[in-house]
Amino acid sequence: MTHPGHHGHRPADVFRDERFAAMIEVEGELAAGLTDRAVTRCIELLGGRPGDVRRIADLGCGPGVATSRLAQTFGSAVVVGVDGSPVMLARAGERAARCGVADRVDLRQLDLDGDLTPLGAFDLVWAALALHHTADQRAALGRFGALLRSRGLLCLLERADPMALRPANELGRPGIWDRVESARPPERATVVDLTPASGDAGAFAPAGLELLHAGRITDVVTAPPGPAVPRLIGGYVGAVLHTLGDHLDPADREALGGAAGHARDIEWGEVRVTSGRLLLVARPRRSGRRR
Ligand SMILES: C[S@@+](CC[C@H](N)C(=O)[O-])C[C@H]1O[C@@H](n2cnc3c(N)ncnc32)[C@H](O)[C@@H]1O
Repeated sequence: MTHPGHHGHRPADVFRDERFAAMIEVEGELAAGLTDRAVTRCIELLGGRPGDVRRIADLGCGPGVATSRLAQTFGSAVVVGVDGSPVMLARAGERAARCGVADRVDLRQLDLDGDLTPLGAFDLVWAALALHHTADQRAALGRFGALLRSRGLLCLLERADPMALRPANELGRPGIWDRVESARPPERATVVDLTPASGDAGAFAPAGLELLHAGRITDVVTAPPGPAVPRLIGGYVGAVLHTLGDHLDPADREALGGAAGHARDIEWGEVRVTSGRLLLVARPRRSGRRR
């Protein structure tokens, strides 16, 4: 899945596109299991006391799938959802109302590259697929971490393996989705500076943070039927054609090329979705400043 805007220091126009926002929302729903797993890990690291969590920031909250989920899980907390895109925030608001948590979800339009201190201090700072959009990840890590109360946690989720879709419909080419998956290169780490594999978890210390947890989480779910799923598949097929092009079997490429333009008209059948994330959890270093 191609996610533009990685290098811009402002939310790319695409984040203000209603159809793209709808797709991000579906992706977020499909990744709900990953959110829950990350939350579980955070609760463990908080000493198993979710009731102590009173203020949560969801930075780059997008359409607010995790924002509402966090409000539901942490029943004593206010969740401040922050995003640069009014289109995303409108969806996050509608979702909070549907989930019955609107009274504890506070949505703010703000640039993550700017000053975040007006947001106040938090027990949990959550940033999913957001840090890599900032202009300077190390500087942003410092600003995110500076929002933490002394016992607070920063939870970062970034893309690990590329999202893989496996519709039952094989476009007349048995095994096509297996071949696509095995041809795809591993996702470039979106937070190159920070992954433990890079041996540079040291980026956390200058940001005043201590890394407590680093690992990959993966989940496989079946996509519920709905109009957004063909759009997701259309985007996936387009990204596969774009990134793999000549590496694909020519007949597979032809089949995918034929499907790319009219994914909405195709009966895809059951769609299995594999999502992966790099999960990094950090806390303020003991010598760091307190709030
Ligand atoms: C890929 S979406 C992630 C949404 C959600 N956190 C999730 O995990 O599904 C990235 C979000 O970050 C927002 N964003 C990107 N750069 C930003 C910036 N500099 N300031 C504020 N928001 C930004 C975009 O508008 C978008 O909603």
